[in-house]
Amino acid sequence: MSNDTPQQANIGVVGLAVMGANLARNLAGREGNTVAVFNRSPERTRTLLDEHPEAGFVASEELDAFVASLRKPRTAIIMVQAGKGTDAVIEQLAERFEEGDIIVDGGNANFQDTRRREKDLRDRGLNFVGAGISGGEEGALNGPSIMPGGSKEAYETLGPILETIAAEVDGEPCVTHVGTDGAGHFVKMIHNGIEYADMQLIGESYDLLRRVAGHDVEAIADVFAAWNEGDLQSYLIEITGEVLRQRDAATGEPLIDVIQDHAGSKGTGVWTVQNAVGLGVPVGGIAEAVFARAVSSKPEQREAVRGVMRSRPDAAAVGESFEDDVRAALYASKVVAYAQGFDAIIAGAEEYDWDIDHAQIARIWRGGCIIRAKFLNRIAEAFERDTRPVTLLEDPYFAKVIQDGEAAWRRVVVVAAQSGVPAPGFSSALAYYDSLASERLPAALTQGLRDFFGAHTYRRTDKDGTFHTLWSGDRTEVEMG
Ligand code: 6PG
Repeated sequence: MSNDTPQQANIGVVGLAVMGANLARNLAGREGNTVAVFNRSPERTRTLLDEHPEAGFVASEELDAFVASLRKPRTAIIMVQAGKGTDAVIEQLAERFEEGDIIVDGGNANFQDTRRREKDLRDRGLNFVGAGISGGEEGALNGPSIMPGGSKEAYETLGPILETIAAEVDGEPCVTHVGTDGAGHFVKMIHNGIEYADMQLIGESYDLLRRVAGHDVEAIADVFAAWNEGDLQSYLIEITGEVLRQRDAATGEPLIDVIQDHAGSKGTGVWTVQNAVGLGVPVGGIAEAVFARAVSSKPEQREAVRGVMRSRPDAAAVGESFEDDVRAALYASKVVAYAQGFDAIIAGAEEYDWDIDHAQIARIWRGGCIIRAKFLNRIAEAFERDTRPVTLLEDPYFAKVIQDGEAAWRRVVVVAAQSGVPAPGFSSALAYYDSLASERLPAALTQGLRDFFGAHTYRRTDKDGTFHTLWSGDRTEVEMG
C-alpha cells in the first residue's frame, strides 16, 4: 500500500468493519467514484484489498497518507462503532483536514453528540455531517437509505456521491439533505424507534396466531408471506416469513423455538423515547416496544410471577376470521406508530430549528432501510397535501384504514387480554387512538387533583384564565390570572 499519486480519491472511508467495508465497496462500484480506505489495524485493510481487487481502492496504512489521497474538498465517511471512539477518530481527521473539508459520521450516533461535534468543527472551519445510514450490511453494500444532516454547503459535495450509492425507488435515490447539524441522526433515531414498534407489532401478531389461533410456525410463515402481498408489504413482514421458516439444524425444530426470548438493544429505541418524552410527544407504541424488550430480558421476574400464578387463562375461542382481525390490528397499530414517529420528527424540527420535508423523509424510507414499506408512499402523499395533517390519523387514507379495521382491532385486544397473551403494542396504540378520539378525557380529573394537592390551577371550558379552588378553605373558586 502506498500513496504515490496523492489526491486521487473523491471519497474516503475510515473504519473497515463489515458496514464500512460494504459501504466502501458500494461507493467503488459506482461510476465516477475513486475510494480511499483506511482502518486503524492495517490487516483489515489488506484483507479488503485482497478480497476485492476489482474495487480499485486507494488504500493507506497511515492516516496522513489517507488524507493526502483525498481530492479537495476532502470528504471522508467514518464508519466506526458509535461512542467514545468516534470523537477520537474525528479529532485525528480534523487535525489533518483543511477549511471546507467534510467529515461524515455514518454510525448510529446520538444526535446531541452530532450537534456538539458539528458546532465544534464548524468553529474550526470544517464541515461535519452526521448521516444516518439504514439497511444493515446488505443495504450498505447494495443501496441503503441515507439520512444526512450538516450544512447545505457540505451536501452540495456529498449529496451527489451519496446519491450514487443509495437505494432507488421509482428512479429516486433514497437520500435527502434532512436538515442542518444533527437532523440526520435525529431522523435515523426515529427510524429506529419505528423499527422497534414495527417489530413488536409483528411479534404480537405472531404470538396471537400461535397461542390463540393455534397455528404452527410454518402456517404463520405462510400468513406473513400472504400479508406481504398486500398493503402491509414491507421488508420486516417479508423477513418475518423467512425467520419463521428457518429450521434449526441441530434439533430439527423451528429456529424460533430455540432462540432465547430475551430481546437486546443498542440504544436508539431508548433515545427515541427519551427525546420524545422531553419534547412532550406521546410515542406509546415505540415506548411499549422498548419496554417489551426490557420485560423479556428479566428472566428472574418472569419466573417469579409464573411461580405464584394459580392458573393461566385458556386461549379464547376464535374462528377463521381471527387471522384477518390480527392483520387489521397490525395495520392500524402500525399506522399509529408511524404517526407518533412523525410527530416526534415534527416536534424535533421545531425544537432544533430544522427545515425537514416530512414527505421527503417518507420517500427516502421507501427503499434501502429496515422499515421500508409500501405504505410509506401513502405517508408521503399525506404530507404533500395542501394542508399538513395535524396527525397522520386524520389523513383520509389512514382514517379509512383505521375505521375499516377498528372493530377487528378491538376484538384482537379483547382476545389478547382474555387469553393472557401480552399485546402491549396493539393495546397502547388503540388506547392512543381512543384518547385522541374521545371528546372528554379524565385529564380534567387529573387537573382537579393537581389543583387540590398542589394549587397547580386549571383552565375552565367556558372562559379564559386560570383558576384555583380554595380546597382547604371555603371551596370557592378564585381566578389566578
Ligand atoms: C438500520 C438498523 C440498524 C441496527 C439497529 C438495531 O437502520 O440499519 O436500525 O441501525 O440494526 O441499530 O438496533 P438494536 O440493536 O437496538 O435493535
